[in-house]
Amino acid sequence: MSVVQIISVFSSQTVAEIDTPAAVTEIRTILEDTPASYESVKKLTYLKAVFFETLRLYPSVPKNVRMAYADDVLPGGIQVAKGDVILYAPYVMGRDEQIWEEPLEFKPERWIDDNGKWRERSAFEFTAFNAGPRLCLGKTMAVTEALVLLATVLPLYEMTPTSTDPPIQVGETLTLPMHSHTVHVAHRADDRTHMYEE
Ligand code: HEM
Repeated sequence: MSVVQIISVFSSQTVAEIDTPAAVTEIRTILEDTPASYESVKKLTYLKAVFFETLRLYPSVPKNVRMAYADDVLPGGIQVAKGDVILYAPYVMGRDEQIWEEPLEFKPERWIDDNGKWRERSAFEFTAFNAGPRLCLGKTMAVTEALVLLATVLPLYEMTPTSTDPPIQVGETLTLPMHSHTVHVAHRADDRTHMYEE
């Protein structure tokens, strides 16, 4: 994941929700003050759910286009002619009631089943990483990097949006820039910075 993508996730409106006690409690309970690692972040189901929920509402690639290589028929029966340009929008799909219950609610729990296990969603419903043969090749690495970063930073710093009025505005480019959004970053009173100083 590029620095830009990490910043885009961090500076989203959902930073307030990312910074939930539940995420910090999970990190502290599972990592027990050890630095986040490739292996240990696999156990952070709630944090992963927070990350996916953020990408559902604020996908780094909010819209995408394809041109038909040949005449085709889409699963819904729509006829496509060779050369037609088709646009799909993960940003819109993340807000579609036909795909998500209460789509505008930030609910990491939707990614976790009743047994506390990860609940995978079809890549054709959650399209932040594209789907099919051109699925993001770096998806696993992106998720690992994001979890390591979040598991390292969240227990140390508290991030609060400086203002939520007006609500965050997003740009209409190929990637998702956020306008006029700043967060206040402060050391947590009970941070464990000392564990990195040895
Ligand atoms: C949150 C982080 C990321 C998101 C949301 C993301 C999203 C996407 C999307 C939507 C595509 C499809 C682009 C298209 O075909 O129009 C894509 C493709 C791709 N991504 Fe990512 N990506 C992320 C991180 C990464 C990372 C860290 C790497 C490499 C280590 C990576 C490598 C690739 C590659 C190689 C493709 C092209 C795949 C192909 O066309 O066959 N991505 N990604």
